Amino acid sequence: IAFMIGAGISTSAGIPDFRSENGIYQTIKEKFKVNSPEDFFSKPLFKSKPEIFYNLCKLMNFDSFKPTLTHYFMKYLLDKNYAQIVFTQNIDGLETKAGINKDNIVFAHGTSNEAHCPQCNCDVDVNEVKHCINNDEVKYCPNCKGPCKLKVVLYGENLPDNFYTNMFMLNECDLVFIIGTSLRVEPFASLTEQIDKHKSWVVVINKELVGNFDYKNNLSHSLFIQGLCDEIVKSILIDCGWWDEFSLKYQI
Ligand code: OAD
Repeated sequence: IAFMIGAGISTSAGIPDFRSENGIYQTIKEKFKVNSPEDFFSKPLFKSKPEIFYNLCKLMNFDSFKPTLTHYFMKYLLDKNYAQIVFTQNIDGLETKAGINKDNIVFAHGTSNEAHCPQCNCDVDVNEVKHCINNDEVKYCPNCKGPCKLKVVLYGENLPDNFYTNMFMLNECDLVFIIGTSLRVEPFASLTEQIDKHKSWVVVINKELVGNFDYKNNLSHSLFIQGLCDEIVKSILIDCGWWDEFSLKYQI
């Protein structure tokens, strides 16, 4: 089993997703009066006006949030050795807070738990960058004087190497869960092309219809389950007879 996940799995923790009605992009549009909020996460804008990105990071402080039932569902299946890998677009760090080992996660869009200078590529102390974020300052690189940032991937930046080295694992899976993502952002969305549609089951769990799988064809191996992911994974756990063990283990 593999997981491909997005911001929708963290909304029940209190973190807004990007593209829903009350999502982060709506907030950015209103706060900064812009039409294309994606530009706020772009490399050129960061280079010329790093303070805007710092401002956004201040809005998106994830330190106090807790993992959701869906995060623990992934952890549970990994612990049972049924699941092997999680491809996440999220930068909230809730996968590791749920106890999932970093070796089992591909942070496709980076992480807010580390920081670097994108100009000379050196690592910098994440606490120093977070301190600047909280104090409306920009942290500059001690080596090249470029602006530093949390190690999240901006539009126009490369994804981490392990995204490309691990994507072939999807080809080997019996089942891929795709949960809480609009599948609108490349190259993440195209990970689905790695899945062997004749061999693997694809189960998409989302509030609204996403993905271009052949859901209506009874012979296809794709299933779309519409609704809130925590409720749906809970019924999967109940149907598999795992709920009692699961709820005891994670005190849910
Ligand atoms: P989106 O906001 O695009 O999509 C989240 C999806 O989850 C939507 O289809 C929601 O309907 C659905 N959803 C929300 N809450 C849910 C719930 N409780 N249960 C089930 N479904 C729910 O977020 P992503 O697909 O993660 O990248 O966005 C991908 C990328 O776009 C982000 O990583 C970010 C952004 O630009 C960068 O900044 C590089």
